[in-house]
Amino acid sequence: MKTPNVRRAATILRRGGLVAFPTETVYGLGADALNPEAVCRIFEVKKRPRFDPLIVHVASPEQAAALWDRMDPAALRLIQKFWPGPLTIVLPKSSMVPDIVTAGLPTVAVRMPAHPVALDLIRALGRPIAAPSANLFGRTSPTTAADVREDLGSKVDLVLDGGPCRVGVESTVVAIEKGRGFLLRPGGISLEDLRKVLPMASNISLPRRQAGDRRRFAPGFLKSHYAPRTPMVLVNGARSFFKKNTDARIGFLSHPKDLRKAASNLFQAIRKLDKMKLDLIAVERVPARGIGLAIMDRLKKACGGKAGRKTAERMLNNAARRKNRAKK
Ligand code: TXA
Ligand code: MG
Repeated sequence: MKTPNVRRAATILRRGGLVAFPTETVYGLGADALNPEAVCRIFEVKKRPRFDPLIVHVASPEQAAALWDRMDPAALRLIQKFWPGPLTIVLPKSSMVPDIVTAGLPTVAVRMPAHPVALDLIRALGRPIAAPSANLFGRTSPTTAADVREDLGSKVDLVLDGGPCRVGVESTVVAIEKGRGFLLRPGGISLEDLRKVLPMASNISLPRRQAGDRRRFAPGFLKSHYAPRTPMVLVNGARSFFKKNTDARIGFLSHPKDLRKAASNLFQAIRKLDKMKLDLIAVERVPARGIGLAIMDRLKKACGGKAGRKTAERMLNNAARRKNRAKK
C-alpha cells in the first residue's frame, strides 16, 4: 500500500533529504541511515548535540540483523514478542552503520515501528531510516503532523501525516549484555512485560562499561528534557491547594485513570497548556507501573526535576515577582 506521498518521501530520502513520518509512538525525523551527510542534517535541523545517538528504524528483523555485529539470542526473544512495536534494542553495531548515527558508540539502537506508513516508507526506500523524535532538541516530542510543522516547519523536506500517534510516548530502549536487559529509557513497552521475556536490571541502569558517563550516550538521562517553556512542577492535589492561594495563572494537568490513554494524551496536553501563557503548570503524578513508569519519566524531565508544594509555591512567588517587575 504505497501511497504517492510515501513514494515521494522515499525519493527525497534517497537523495539525502529529510522526511518527518508517523510511528505508533511519536513522529520521527528521518534520513537514510546509511548516508552520513543526510544523517548529519538531522543533527543540524534538530539542534541536537552530536553526542546523542539516533535510533535506526527497520521493516524486518533481518534488516536489523544486518546492522548488528551478530544476532543475540536474548534480542531474538524480545523481537519475537514485541516487534513491530515500541521497543528499541541496543547491541554492538556492524561496520555497515556510519559512526555519526551512533555518535561514535560501538553499539546501535534499532527498532521496527508498528505503523503502516513508517513500514511502507522503510520498504519503499529499501534501506533503514535513522530518526529521532521530530522536535527541537530538549522539547516535547510531536504526536501529530501539526506539531512537527510547528517545531521544524520548512526545515524538513516533507511531513507525512499519519494522524495522531497511538502510544504517545517514545519507545522503551533496552541494551542487552550477556543475556540480560538494561533499561535505558522507559517507554511504550513496560518493564513488567519485558521481565516476562528477559532478566532485566532492576532499576533504570546501564551496562557497567557505559555507566561512566550517562550523559554522553543516553541523553534520556539529562535532567531537563521534553520540556515546555512554561515553568512546570510535579505536585499532587494542586488544584484545591492553589485555588484560594493566588491570582497567578496556573494550569493543572491531571491524567485519565487509564494509563494508556494518559500516555497517548500526554504530549498534546503539555503542548496545549504551554501555549496558554500561564505562570505555572502543576502536574499530577501517576502510579509508576506499566506505561506509568514512562509517563513519570517524561513528567519529571518536563519539570526539570522540580516537585512538591514548597517548590511549587516558590515558583509561583517568582512568577509573581517577575510580573510585578514587568508592570513597573
Ligand atoms: O519512539 C521512539 O523511540 C521515537 C520514534 C521516532 O521512533 N524516537 C526517539 O528517538 O525517541 P530519540 O532520538 O528522541 O531518542 C533516542 C534515545 C536517546 O535517549 C538516545 O540516547 C538513545 O535512544 N540511544 C540511541 N542510540 C543509543 C545507543 N547506541 N546506546 C544507548 N542509547 C542510545
Ligand atoms: Mg527525543
